[in-house]
Amino acid sequence: MPLVTTTEMFKKAYEGGYAIGAFNVNNMEIVQGITEAAKEEKAPLILQVSAGARKYANHTYLMKLVEAAIEETNLPIALHLDHGDSFELCKSCIDGGFTSVMIDGSHLPFEENIKLTKQVVDYAHDHGVVVEGELGRLAGIEDDVNVSAEDATYTDPDEVEEFVQRTGVDSLAIAIGTSHGAFKFKGEAKLRFDILEEIGKRLPEFPIVLHGASSVPQEYVEMINKYGGQMPGAKGVPEDMLRKAASMAVCKINIDSDLRLAMTSSVRKFIAENPEAFDPRQYLGPAREAIKEIVRHKIVNVLGCNNTI
Ligand code: G3H
Ligand code: 13P
Ligand code: ZN
Repeated sequence: MPLVTTTEMFKKAYEGGYAIGAFNVNNMEIVQGITEAAKEEKAPLILQVSAGARKYANHTYLMKLVEAAIEETNLPIALHLDHGDSFELCKSCIDGGFTSVMIDGSHLPFEENIKLTKQVVDYAHDHGVVVEGELGRLAGIEDDVNVSAEDATYTDPDEVEEFVQRTGVDSLAIAIGTSHGAFKFKGEAKLRFDILEEIGKRLPEFPIVLHGASSVPQEYVEMINKYGGQMPGAKGVPEDMLRKAASMAVCKINIDSDLRLAMTSSVRKFIAENPEAFDPRQYLGPAREAIKEIVRHKIVNVLGCNNTI
């Protein structure tokens, strides 16, 4: 099976009241862990690559890893550019075989965001590729862009119809209180479901995307802290909130930090308990297994997309 776009997956997810997991990939063990879990749980997948991942692993290596995963699993997989920040980057990913790109113009004034997003949509659609746009700004760190909590703004429901209509985007990322990274909330976790509901009314049957949706399982944080790490106060989005979002208009839920935590806690534990180990396979094997188990948990208990293919 070739790479697919997200069109069919989002249609089914919207109708079925579940969401597709969009997991960030950076190396072979991550691709294998994610795809093995999805194969066993019969779930479609979005594998996403950030500019940083592309810089780290190289476009061709990531492309070939994902092609190998499709050959091994026969899963419907969309390969997506996460947080594209320019037309050139999106074009390079489209020309290089991605089936979906995000153009993140959320930091730009409304008219400029529309202009840039439309430029990407025109090129992408001419090449059979789908596009995710973003309105509203999440707090947190993406590559080199650090948005402070004060600069974050919720998506304005009054803007979404015009944005979607004028740009032609296929899905829309919104800001309702989630943020990137492992430190999402200082106090109580709170998401603006009223905004999500209003956006759902303004854009009927249109797929909404939730970024910054890791739940930061405390067992990982405790393990990291126990074995020499320092992540006191790490906190994520409660899983019941993610399930609620998935039952509403949210069709794509982005998860990266939880994979990092799974991998890092596993590696730290293994090395602390096996000081003589120096073969990377000894600690990368369990790390791959940890990725597989967290992805399985997300698919079955959070996203609800198991047994949908
Ligand atoms: O939202 C951003 C993702 O977590 C990717 O992070 O830019 O460090 O690869 P990265
Ligand atoms: P997390 O940092 O919550 O995993 O969010 C990832 C993300 O939004 C990637 O675009
Ligand atoms: Zn994101």
